[in-house]
Amino acid sequence: MDLLLLEKTLLALFATVILAIAISKLCGKKYRLPPGPLPVPVFGNWLQVGDDLNHRNLSDLARKFGDIFLLRMGQRNLVVVSSPELAKEVLHTQGVEFGSRTRNVVFDIFTGKGQDMVFTVYGEHWRKMRRIMTVPFFTNKVVQQYRQGWEAEAASVVEDVKKRPESATTGIVLRRRLQLMMYNNMYRIMFDRRFESEEDPLFVKLRALNGERSRLAQSFEYNYGDFIPILRPFLRGYLRICKEVKERRLQLFNDYFVQERKLASTTSVSNEGLKCAIDHILDAQHKGEINEDNVLYIVENINVAAIETTLWSIEWAIAELVNHPEIQTKLRRELDTVLGVGHQITEPDTHKLPYLQAVIKETLRLRMAIPLLVPHMNLHDAKLGGYDIPAESKILVNAWWLANNPANWDRSEEFRPERFLEEESKVEANGNDFRFLPFGVGRRSCPGIILALPILGITIGRLVQNFELLPPPGCSKLDTTEKGGQFSLHILNHSTIVAKPRTF
Ligand code: HEM
Repeated sequence: MDLLLLEKTLLALFATVILAIAISKLCGKKYRLPPGPLPVPVFGNWLQVGDDLNHRNLSDLARKFGDIFLLRMGQRNLVVVSSPELAKEVLHTQGVEFGSRTRNVVFDIFTGKGQDMVFTVYGEHWRKMRRIMTVPFFTNKVVQQYRQGWEAEAASVVEDVKKRPESATTGIVLRRRLQLMMYNNMYRIMFDRRFESEEDPLFVKLRALNGERSRLAQSFEYNYGDFIPILRPFLRGYLRICKEVKERRLQLFNDYFVQERKLASTTSVSNEGLKCAIDHILDAQHKGEINEDNVLYIVENINVAAIETTLWSIEWAIAELVNHPEIQTKLRRELDTVLGVGHQITEPDTHKLPYLQAVIKETLRLRMAIPLLVPHMNLHDAKLGGYDIPAESKILVNAWWLANNPANWDRSEEFRPERFLEEESKVEANGNDFRFLPFGVGRRSCPGIILALPILGITIGRLVQNFELLPPPGCSKLDTTEKGGQFSLHILNHSTIVAKPRTF
């Protein structure tokens, strides 16, 4: 192409962009939008900020644009909130206005366009699902019914690790065994079922499909097609894989778990006392409150929301304890002193162990499993921090930054559980302080906190009581590189850990 032609083409392109901006300014509503980088037509800010919208990159943007900023990602408005005051506004004061969820093209597939509970808008369906799920999952009665099962699962982890000679020498990928434990903890509640070993063929299938679901949903690689509708045809292959995984997964839940339980409830004498969660959910289906698909989406939600988040948190806690031997020793000393050497920790004990609680909180602060909460959304035009927020904007509360902003926390980058016994002793994980929201707060906060905290306490407690946890030979520290996703955070590499049994 000769230079003159190139010049003319570029000029025409420039004029088109300016014209498009002018037209959109003239035709669009007069909004006072939050600050942010200047968007260009069609792409918005996508070319400037890219795909990797993880908690750390969004924290960097908050430092540049302020506590509230807007990114125009193709056709989607993304509002990021990064101060405790604005988080309070979104989650509490205007909890109804901002209490809905957005779904992108991938989450639309995995949740059947919001037929589940986690990704549905704030309204009748959500209220019904939350009510139906509360009795079987989210009460202290459930904790009391299942805590001995969780203690038995943790004891079984300890036994299995002790049986493997390499645990004490070259080390093992402890996470693999803990994953089985977390499945058992939740499948006991859901279906009164457990898996014998990591090789159980049904467990292997389940783990693979859940892993695929997570990877496909949390990846940033499909952003372009979600943000920019004209690019969506290029996403066809990706979305087809998502649909296949979703179908196979729901089929597996149905064929191997739900149907089996249906059969059990018709053949055995009904016994109210031994009902597991799915029996309650199926009762709701029989009463016509929810349909068969809703039942499967509840199972889908628990598989992701409960198992992965808690497993990631356990994995992070162990990695931090290995990398901070002095903290591990201090925790072990507390367990020995308060419970007596050899007494294996139980759920009621977890309330008597302030340092254990501080270790858990510090893990949830520094290594928050859901650092951006689950995306919120305003169904209608709204106001926030003096700005207009167009209807159906995706609202991300950067909970990780609230809990790691050095302006609000002393030596925020350090793993220092003592902070929760000293200057932050009043801060709890339940959202009593808007700087610390590992489970969110308000209407859409995590109802699973009631199960997650005791499971974390029992598991971490038992491991530290029974083993000295060390990096593998030749390493002084574990690799704690993070892997952030659409709104998740887990450790990138599952570490090999040496677990030396203690002798009592
Ligand atoms: C350490 C473990 C866990 C962490 C860090 C965690 C964190 C969170 C967060 C941050 C949210 C979103 C809050 C918001 O958007 O405002 C959430 C939602 C949710 N979590 Fe958890 N969670 C954990 C364990 C669990 C467990 C064990 C269950 C179930 C037994 C569970 C069930 C749910 C459900 C159903 C929602 C959706 C609530 C709604 O949309 O109304 N979570 N969780």
